[in-house]
Amino acid sequence: MGGETTLVVNGTARSIASAPGAMLLDVLRTELGLKAARFGCGEGLCGACRVLVDGQPVPSCDTPLWSVAGRAITTVEGLGTVAAPHPLQSALIAEQAMQCGYCISGIMISAAALLARDHDPSESAIRAALDPNLCRCGAHNRIVRAVQRAAVEMRAGAP
Ligand code: FES
Ligand code: FES
Repeated sequence: MGGETTLVVNGTARSIASAPGAMLLDVLRTELGLKAARFGCGEGLCGACRVLVDGQPVPSCDTPLWSVAGRAITTVEGLGTVAAPHPLQSALIAEQAMQCGYCISGIMISAAALLARDHDPSESAIRAALDPNLCRCGAHNRIVRAVQRAAVEMRAGAP
């Protein structure tokens, strides 16, 4: 049964049955089964639910479906796979940057947006990009090192 709202999710057009007022996070997790984005505060304040909308990180917990109709949504599932991980995913593992891991999906989204526009970000630029993302485990320093490592690997792999 088709819905009235179409989204392009991780490169594939999807017809969404949820009500236009549903929050994007609920659509992704409940209707589409994409569980990477997490519910944290529910008020746009913690970053756990961040996804890319046309390449820009947004909190999906307070983004109504109607407001992103027809737009391109990227979740962590769309960044990379186990077989072909995004350099950020490899770098986070290499730096052992996750503790509980709850914040990491949102952090990957913020960092991916940064690295798409800045291939050699300064440490202060990385910290500024990740400022909307809370990490209650205090893994910030290792996360920053992982973003720096990913930037190096992406530059090395660039044509
Ligand atoms: S759950 Fe969306 S910003 Fe916290
Ligand atoms: S690793 Fe636990 S909240 Fe960030």
